[in-house]
Amino acid sequence: MATEADGPVAVLPTPLAKAVIDPHSYAEWDGLLDTFDHIRKTTPVAKVISEESGLFEPFWLISRYEDVMRISKDNATFLNNPRPVVFSFNQAIEFSRAATGSNMLVDSLVVFDAPIHPKYRKLTQDWFMPRNLARIEDEIRALARRTVDAMIAAGPELDFVEMVAGPYPLRVVMQILGVPPADEPRMQMLTQQLFGGQDADLSGSGMDQMSPEQVVQLVAGAVKSFEDYFAALAQDRRANPTDDVASVIANALVDGEPLPPRDMAGYYIIVATAGHDTTSASTAGAMQALAQDPDQWARVRNDRSLLPGIVEEAIRWTSPVQHFMRTAAHDVEVGGQLIREGDWMMINYVSANHDPAQFEDPRRFDAARSPNRHLAFGAGGHQCLGLHLARLEMRLLFEALLDRVERVELAGEPKRATSTFVGGLKTLPIRISASTSAA
Ligand code: HEM
Repeated sequence: MATEADGPVAVLPTPLAKAVIDPHSYAEWDGLLDTFDHIRKTTPVAKVISEESGLFEPFWLISRYEDVMRISKDNATFLNNPRPVVFSFNQAIEFSRAATGSNMLVDSLVVFDAPIHPKYRKLTQDWFMPRNLARIEDEIRALARRTVDAMIAAGPELDFVEMVAGPYPLRVVMQILGVPPADEPRMQMLTQQLFGGQDADLSGSGMDQMSPEQVVQLVAGAVKSFEDYFAALAQDRRANPTDDVASVIANALVDGEPLPPRDMAGYYIIVATAGHDTTSASTAGAMQALAQDPDQWARVRNDRSLLPGIVEEAIRWTSPVQHFMRTAAHDVEVGGQLIREGDWMMINYVSANHDPAQFEDPRRFDAARSPNRHLAFGAGGHQCLGLHLARLEMRLLFEALLDRVERVELAGEPKRATSTFVGGLKTLPIRISASTSAA
């Protein structure tokens, strides 16, 4: 029987394909959302092919909410292995294969499929569940309050990313992992090189246009530094176990064996990196939305029951993890296109979370949005391990901010990172009026 998928292959026109793979388009949020609106309407499942021969393997861009949800939930058909789980240039893949024998420089949780993935995930899953997090809630609250005190001392005008959205999630996750405060600047720099390798400021390269080769060198250097650091940390926690996540990973047994060194390093790296730049971006986005609408700040100050809705909407609205990649295990139809076994796919969370078929007026920040079944944390077997932590730390931070800050407004133009993978604001100038008494 003929199906829609027997029809012609939809290929994204070159300017749109360029916009999807160019990190600079992710720095221009409205333009990016316009691009995805157009793609969803015209070719919701379309091939992205490089104009420059050999730059990257063609992949399918999946832009509609319903398709991204379906792919995320079907982990048997849409695999994380063996192709890279993050969009990568051929040069990066070749470099990685030569250096490590794998298509990815880091083999972390997101790289594995069943049967190994659930076994690895189980090792730390309980640690990140609400029941365990309740144990450390007071510590996180105290940290949130200290961060807000420091921000107020730096005010009334300040960069919210530099003072709060950057350092606070970093400290939370490093405390959980067991990395001492003195090593946080190093962790921050390495994460930014890994995720923001294409951004002149975040990578520390000062270069606005980097060749794939330069990005690969930068990222490979960051991975090596991470690996060396975590090998020493694991050794210490095997000798002196504590109750931190570093000890859980260092002493874990899978099928009676410790994790191989590469998998262990990958585990540390994903917790250390996925755990803060993402939450920094959603925290900065929440503040941006509130600073743009001072009445909303006043409303939530008086009615804290609005806060969980603000946190959830900020996570959708910002979608800090902008995509992941999957590979088809067999021929399958998606959105009327025939995806062949082995084909590579980009599931785009920014586009899915701005799909008007799922979210009314998706560009509007609507703290009362209900339901708000966004895909910013993914779905299915790989759904974000840290989602309860991310929500908790955002809620505790905004409680502390609402207690101490009477009024907040924008004090300049916010700037976004140049990155196709994890993205968000890299600066957010605000002006605050601290309150003399708690709200
Ligand atoms: C707002 C903040 C965050 C966002 C938007 C976010 C987003 C995501 C997304 C989209 C995935 C992939 C899901 C999939 O493939 O279906 C993921 C996976 C993951 N995230 Fe998060 N994340 C956030 C915070 C955190 C935090 C705080 C941690 C702390 C440990 C964390 C750790 C992880 C880990 C370990 C994975 C891999 C899970 C697996 O493959 O089984 N994330 N996250």
